[in-house]
Amino acid sequence: FQIKVPENEPIKSYLPGSPERLALKAELDRQTANPIEVPIIVGGKEYRTEHKGKMICPHDHQTVLGEYSIAGEKELLMAIEAAEAAKVEWENMPWEHRATIFLKAADLLTGKYRAKLSASCMLGQSKNLFQAEIDVICELADFLRFNPYYVQEIYKQQPNNSAGVWNRVEYRALDGFVAAITPFNFTAIGGNLATAPAMVGNTVLWKPSSTAVLSNYYVMQILMEAGLPAGVINFVPCRGVDFGKVVINHPKMAGFHFTGSTSVFNGIWKQVGDNISNYVTYPRLVGETGGKDFIFAHESADIEALTCSIILGAFEYQGQKCSAASRAYVPESLWGQLKVRLEEEIAKIKVGDVRDFSNLMNAVIDQNSFKNIQSYLDYVKASEDGEIIIGGGTEDKVGYFVEPTVILAKTPTFKTMVEEIFGPVLTVYVYPNDKFEETLELCDTSTVYGLTGSIFAQDRAAIVKMSQALDHAAGNFYINDKPTGAVVGQQPFGGSRGSGTNDKAGSAVNLSRWMSQRTIKETL
Ligand code: SER
Repeated sequence: FQIKVPENEPIKSYLPGSPERLALKAELDRQTANPIEVPIIVGGKEYRTEHKGKMICPHDHQTVLGEYSIAGEKELLMAIEAAEAAKVEWENMPWEHRATIFLKAADLLTGKYRAKLSASCMLGQSKNLFQAEIDVICELADFLRFNPYYVQEIYKQQPNNSAGVWNRVEYRALDGFVAAITPFNFTAIGGNLATAPAMVGNTVLWKPSSTAVLSNYYVMQILMEAGLPAGVINFVPCRGVDFGKVVINHPKMAGFHFTGSTSVFNGIWKQVGDNISNYVTYPRLVGETGGKDFIFAHESADIEALTCSIILGAFEYQGQKCSAASRAYVPESLWGQLKVRLEEEIAKIKVGDVRDFSNLMNAVIDQNSFKNIQSYLDYVKASEDGEIIIGGGTEDKVGYFVEPTVILAKTPTFKTMVEEIFGPVLTVYVYPNDKFEETLELCDTSTVYGLTGSIFAQDRAAIVKMSQALDHAAGNFYINDKPTGAVVGQQPFGGSRGSGTNDKAGSAVNLSRWMSQRTIKETL
């Protein structure tokens, strides 16, 4: 058994008349017309509770996709028991058997479940078909194929022996269970956070985002169909406060895998700190958190590349990727031309329902998010230091729609230049050409984050200077490209500073965090 270097799952075109387009349309209709009931899954069994949450379409909030059961303390305790019970057999299973399950899940989701998964992600998380395809199909399949390959490569590493001495490193799982809290914006991230620790023998409690339950549930079902034994991953939609109390505080929590906001991760880090003497082992905390991702243009930048990257980087998936561009630094000499190009191109963007495939943008995830974005726009309207120059419109009668919006900031530390908004809002600061170096310094220091960022220049010396000045400003650093769209196996993803622990999703570094090595020396 040897896993070859995997290939990335190809993106399908969904051309009119193609079988994948017809299958997708049929699934969109089926899921819209047939609301479902999503259970909790603990120890391989389904449970239903009285306490229910609703799954709605963000772009059509009167359409209900179904209801899901919310786990309470009792179900969470059962899930911990199930995870503990499954652990011994799972951890001691030959790793190849574990790997086969995830490889099979990748084939199921790119094969017979492709349309079902894409449709659930489009309807439940308001993604256009391309955004759903690159997330729940391609990126998730890539995680499920590349991670087992990385595990294999880690397991090959063994220490030397010496005369009369036999040494070995055993790559054990952690001494306890792993808790995963996963976000709405990428179903692939949800799947990865739950499966990466499991691949190396851990058992997991998976709390999906309350706004992405449907697609996450289908992923769970596929993992079970692929042969995941009962109790290895326990699917427990629940309230954050219950998860915190029962799961995070539990003495056997040995690892925590998170993607979400910086403030939630900080809160959990503190909670773990306060509880530290109660754990059997120091929990490994791995998190990818917020961002205020930048685009920085030098005067030698290509205007067309910049226009295209700003538009896709800031507005695809309504700016709700953790990697989305949300602040731009543009030299005075380019701004006039760039502004015209942005106005021309943004005017062509259509915003609306996911079932109309010509919409580049759809709705933001929920009412809270919609109101939060609106409050930033209101702040700008009332401020002297910033101005909305493109877009700014919002509408929530049918769905939570926000126009692609560009703000011009007079100062480089204007509120929307430094705070994460998580919506289709880009703030531009225009700098005097002779203030290039000072502005680079500001880009590096004016936010607490360090997730992604892009620089644009044709001049090689400028590229080198910018790369050096921004060396810790972005864990994913792009040269002449948008800051979104990292591909598993090509650009391992994650950032540092206030953006997380930078344990790169889809990498050997991440997988190592879920292993606890035992070094054995035997004297012969
Ligand atoms: N991996 C995604 C991207 O690069 C973000 O999570 O856009």
